Amino acid sequence: MLFNLFNREKSSKKEDNYLTLRIRETVVETADTMTVYFEQPEPFLDYQPGQFLTLILEINGKQERRSYSLCTSPFVDPFPGITVKRLNGGLVSNYINDHFFPGKRVAVMKPLGNFVTNYHSDNRQHYGLIAGGSGITPIMGILKSILVNEPHAQIHLLYCSRSREMIIFRELLEDLQEKFPGRLAVSHQLSQPEAGWEGDRGRLDQEKVKQFYLKNFKSFEANQKFFVCGPEGLMDISQDALRQLGIPKELILKESFHLEKEKSAQEEDLTDVVSRPVKIILEGEEYAFDVGPKKTILEAGLDEGLDMPYSCQSGLCTACMGKLISGEVNMDEDAGLSEQEIKSGYILCCSSKPKGSDVVIQIE
Ligand SMILES: Cc1cc2nc3c(=O)[nH]c(=O)nc-3n(C[C@H](O)[C@H](O)[C@H](O)COP(=O)(O)OP(=O)(O)OC[C@H]3O[C@@H](n4cnc5c(N)ncnc54)[C@H](O)[C@@H]3O)c2cc1C
Ligand code: FES
Repeated sequence: MLFNLFNREKSSKKEDNYLTLRIRETVVETADTMTVYFEQPEPFLDYQPGQFLTLILEINGKQERRSYSLCTSPFVDPFPGITVKRLNGGLVSNYINDHFFPGKRVAVMKPLGNFVTNYHSDNRQHYGLIAGGSGITPIMGILKSILVNEPHAQIHLLYCSRSREMIIFRELLEDLQEKFPGRLAVSHQLSQPEAGWEGDRGRLDQEKVKQFYLKNFKSFEANQKFFVCGPEGLMDISQDALRQLGIPKELILKESFHLEKEKSAQEEDLTDVVSRPVKIILEGEEYAFDVGPKKTILEAGLDEGLDMPYSCQSGLCTACMGKLISGEVNMDEDAGLSEQEIKSGYILCCSSKPKGSDVVIQIE
């Protein structure tokens, strides 16, 4: 039976993964971006700065799920919030900007995500944050958390926007710089600045990332840590430039909102021609079904009516994560998984197909 998220009985274990939040306030940030603050549920929402919520909405009679990073910090902000930028032609981002209002109730999956760090008051970290557009959202929660939790830490933020008017949280960032002099420095980079803009202009490239690093960090030291979030191109440029400067990969954390994927014809031939059986252990119950040609394990499970958890369906958010108990899978995309999770045998059902006939996956 399909689990009905909008009319649920209490006390099922599955329910632990979902909750309903009531919108407290909506704040227009820029012409195309809005922050939605939620009332605290009971008990308070348990999340780490940098994690995201998966919203589950019914639009035109169809259930739609999308992930949105929390822009708030549980150490600072009384109410959790997400910031949503309209995407041209995008279904959910425009729906949220047009149809969310105080009092509305929204079904969500509990916070998930690995774009997080541990905070300690003795830390003397030097953080480099690089954000593009709506990628500032998780960075904002992390930045605020560092400022209040780590009095000896220093932050340099490089934030790329189209124009001054499109800078999300512009005033808040200015206020924080004033409040924490010497600890937070923000550099804006505008691709289409208004007349009179005296700051950096043009699109981000590797040279600009290197200049940002050399100006503020000089050379590599073990207390440095980098968080990068924005369009795919910006993240690749930033990661490549930082790696060329000698920053170890494990000190560069990335959060992807979207992947442009093109599958080669050869890949498709090899993985997509036969049906294979899988077993899924979901909330202690075992389900067996076939994964047909061109289907992922998640798609096949949803076709069977199983209430498997999911959100982005592109390997980024980890909502569909399960542990491979036996067999092997072809996983097209594992960007959302940490190296430790991959080593421990976790897979993403939305981007995996069974390789043999003995695949068993446990979903918690
Ligand atoms: C972990 C995670 C955190 C996220 N956090 C945020 C956030 O804090 N704020 C925010 O505004 N968005 C965030 N997103 C993106 C968000 O989940 C949606 O993808 C986005 O709002 C577009 O959804 P849509 O329904 O409007 O567009 P759709 O109707 O799904 O897509 C319309 C078209 O745009 C393309 N597309 C979809 N998403 C993107 C994208 N992000 N960039 C470029 N092209 C895209 C699609 O391929 C399609 O062609 C996050 C995504 C992930 C995975
Ligand atoms: S549904 Fe997001 S990673 Fe699979």
